[in-house]
Amino acid sequence: MNELTDITGQVAVVTGGTAGMGEAAAVRFGAEGAKVAVIGRTPEKGNAVVKRITDAGGEAMFVKAECADEDEVKVATKTILDTWGRADILVNTAGGFIDAPPLEEITLEAMHHSYDWNVIAKFLITRELVPTMKANNYGRIVNISSVAGRTARGGAIEYATTEAGIIGLTRRLATELGGHGITVNAIAPGLVLTPRVERHPPEVLEARGKSTPVGRLGTPEELAHAIWYFCTPGAAFTTGAVLDVNGGAWMG
Ligand SMILES: NC(=O)c1ccc[n+]([C@@H]2O[C@H](COP(=O)([O-])OP(=O)(O)OC[C@H]3O[C@@H](n4cnc5c(N)ncnc54)[C@H](OP(=O)(O)O)[C@@H]3O)[C@@H](O)[C@H]2O)c1
Repeated sequence: MNELTDITGQVAVVTGGTAGMGEAAAVRFGAEGAKVAVIGRTPEKGNAVVKRITDAGGEAMFVKAECADEDEVKVATKTILDTWGRADILVNTAGGFIDAPPLEEITLEAMHHSYDWNVIAKFLITRELVPTMKANNYGRIVNISSVAGRTARGGAIEYATTEAGIIGLTRRLATELGGHGITVNAIAPGLVLTPRVERHPPEVLEARGKSTPVGRLGTPEELAHAIWYFCTPGAAFTTGAVLDVNGGAWMG
């Protein structure tokens, strides 16, 4: 047992844990011995992830919630705390975007949606779970941003701005919570082969992969590995950091 990396028995909450890198993180936490709450909107997908974890000998439950809905987040976090009594790890992967229109065609509604899904969703659940972390003087929070929020060079305008907002939220929370044993870090992935990305034409994905120094796209498991590091006890001195996991596509 390595006390720097041991998360056995800890409670890990993963929003957007029903697919992609959230699913990979949930499975990884289950394999590491944590109890995993998988949050998403689609029970079929969530229950399938729970089955992957429990089939491998882990402990997990699916909790249905739209993470941008305050009431649903309150109910979901109450369910988790009523069941397991604490939350040690929070990984916010729920987020995303719909399309990338030019500036003149972006509606106010689309801007609000993007802010809701990418920033508000992370704020809401963090606000609900931080009190239990403070009570235990321990917590690990990881927010998934994007290379789009680091570079502002491409992608949807509404997405890039909210991904940068996630980094601001992360740093501000890291400042706020550092004295309570709670770290808050962000990961800015490049293109990762998740179900959402796999829908793009293979030749487009291949070209995007070849344009990176490592010559390929990322895997959800590689993102889960980076997430896991931030969530270990030994990462206690790492907070407010933004880790670029992008195959070298952009180097800050
Ligand atoms: N994939 C990439 O290349 C990439 C690159 C950079 C950044 N990112 C960011 O990384 C995060 C994860 O992306 P991903 O590609 O792994 O997976 P994803 O397909 O975008 O999302 C994973 C799952 O999260 C759930 N979800 C999304 N929004 C939610 C919400 N508001 N409330 C509750 N559940 C929600 C959805 O499942 P349900 O049907 O259960 O709701 C979705 O299938 C996103 O925030 C994305 O912006 C991704």
